[in-house]
Amino acid sequence: MINRVMDYKTLIRLLIGCLAVFGAARLYFSQIPESGVFARKTMHISSPGKFWQTDGIGEPTMLDVNPSLQTIMKKPKNYKNVKNPKLRVLGSLKAKARLHTGPLNVVHLDLKGAAPKVTYFQKLFPLISSLGANGILMEYEDMFPYEGKLGILRSSYSYSEDDIEEIKSLANLYNLELIPLVQVFGHLEFVLKHGQFFDLREVYDFPNSLNPSHPESLQLIEEMLTQVLMKHPQTKWFHIGADEVYGLGESKDSKKWMKQNNRSEGNLFLSHVTKVCQFLTELSPGIKPIFWEDMLRKLGPNLIIESGLPSIASPVIWNYGAEINLSQIGQLLSNYQKAGFQNVWFASAFKGASGVDQRWTPLNLHLQNHLAWIKVMASMSKYPSLKLDGIALTGWQRYEHHTVLCELLPVAIPSLAICLNTLKYGSFNRTAENEVEKLLGCKVDLNANSCNGNLSFPGSEVYKMVKKIHNELQQSIGKLNQDYFVRGSFGPYQRKYNFASPRNIGHFLGTLTNLMKMWDPFMETFKKEMMDIYFSNSVEEWMEENVNQHMDNLRSLNEDANRIIKFKGQERSLNQINYLPK
Ligand SMILES: *[C@@H]1O[C@H](CO)[C@@H](O)[C@H](O)[C@H]1NC(C)=O
Ligand SMILES: *[C@@H]1O[C@H](CO)[C@@H](O)[C@H](O)[C@H]1NC(C)=O
Ligand SMILES: *[C@@H]1O[C@H](CO)[C@@H](O)[C@H](O)[C@H]1NC(C)=O
Ligand SMILES: *[C@@H]1O[C@H](CO)[C@@H](O)[C@H](O)[C@H]1NC(C)=O
Repeated sequence: MINRVMDYKTLIRLLIGCLAVFGAARLYFSQIPESGVFARKTMHISSPGKFWQTDGIGEPTMLDVNPSLQTIMKKPKNYKNVKNPKLRVLGSLKAKARLHTGPLNVVHLDLKGAAPKVTYFQKLFPLISSLGANGILMEYEDMFPYEGKLGILRSSYSYSEDDIEEIKSLANLYNLELIPLVQVFGHLEFVLKHGQFFDLREVYDFPNSLNPSHPESLQLIEEMLTQVLMKHPQTKWFHIGADEVYGLGESKDSKKWMKQNNRSEGNLFLSHVTKVCQFLTELSPGIKPIFWEDMLRKLGPNLIIESGLPSIASPVIWNYGAEINLSQIGQLLSNYQKAGFQNVWFASAFKGASGVDQRWTPLNLHLQNHLAWIKVMASMSKYPSLKLDGIALTGWQRYEHHTVLCELLPVAIPSLAICLNTLKYGSFNRTAENEVEKLLGCKVDLNANSCNGNLSFPGSEVYKMVKKIHNELQQSIGKLNQDYFVRGSFGPYQRKYNFASPRNIGHFLGTLTNLMKMWDPFMETFKKEMMDIYFSNSVEEWMEENVNQHMDNLRSLNEDANRIIKFKGQERSLNQINYLPK
């Protein structure tokens, strides 16, 4: 306990020092923020629990869990004595640094897959700032430098403490409100995948959701939130996720809680989220917790009122579709108004919402999504006691911790630019289009789903190269595999027994050689470009998902053709003893 107090003191001193420097930098570099209107996951297909919807999730295969892997979490410390006064000091500093008024346009950087190196943020932040963004919603996931017993949550490529300081100072420099996002309920795979936290799962065999009724769950969340908040003492908002709590109400503890208290899964959800938000507001008075609101959609206002949540937190309503049903959104807004929420956020999507394995961002879909949100914003006067705090333009990197990568961030920069400028001008008119062209060095072609020209935005090499891979790699190799002579003369049997006519091989060898000459060096260059932006784990993952199977196919065709052609069509028994005629 003593050590921990000392730690906090040292940290706080450091933080105050940093804040002073940032504050000065911010005032010096501050620009007049763009007044803009503003902007999550239709694609998150599976449904949260039986209470929620009727369509069940596909049954994942059971995990084969070795119970001996589990170790019991140590008893938690009492946080309350430690933190409040210190963070309150910082709270008074933060008012001075704040410059924005009106709803924020916040860009969601989802670090749960292909997290960029901080050097990429050095180029990205000024760009999004010029495009009209005035905030960043940073979903740290396993990229945050958790310490102590939470050290296990860090990816081996997680940011360092210095990286976090640099991110903060970049955000300040470019006038971007930095809002941390830490999941506290559902989507806790990055925590619950670790053996020692298996006991805190709501469904023992699934890594998705936390058991809200286990006494150590809240302590774990409090520790995580504390560590992140200590690094963001000036933040005005804190996003606690809380979407898609699959399996809610299924643990023995939760069933017991519901029975004893005569309460539903809805109460269970509200109870945990409210406790988490109370913890945050005690830790940092004045902070506004925000949360994805999908778990509230089927709850009546009275149930929500009873929880006490509306007085301390604000819902983030998300919809990523090309069309938004205004009457449905209106229903939500009116329920939330009745429940007594005073503020609300919206969430649109600029990428990662159009297919679990999407590689190339559909520009028009995301444009339409933003136009639809603009209509919702225009209807806000119907809900006079709800103030819109901002719109988060989400950019999902993957749907879940355990699923494949969606589009890489550089691939979606044109989409992000279109969406931000659409919010800024109210439509994607000529002015917005010209501004995108000026800032990205390319002209948007919605029909071709592309931005063409001498691209000059950060990551544009990766953009161009992914485009070529997306459009040509599989297709060019597939075409070769469909060649008459490959199909007819170079089947698996022919390749296994080195028994093919060199005359027939000759018909496709030229094409094969050309493909090798093109793709092999291309992929080497591509990996270098990727390594400029990403850590090697992400490069490997993207290559496995999108490239390696095709390149392996091509390389093995090439090896086989060049080996077999030398046998000059001789009888297969001779080939098997590697007899090569002179
Ligand atoms: C349990 O809750 C329901 C609905 O809130 C209520 O109608 C019922 O009377 C309660 N039962 C008991 C035993 O309190
Ligand atoms: C919009 O939602 C309302 C209420 O849920 C429904 O009655 C209506 O059919 C929907 N409209 C469209 C165009 O889907
Ligand atoms: C685009 O919309 C903005 C905001 O309404 C307006 O100021 C601008 O003149 C429009 N540009 C064109 C070319 O219509
Ligand atoms: C792109 O660059 C090439 C070569 O530098 C130049 O010839 C061309 O005019 C440029 N195109 C545009 C649209 O700027």
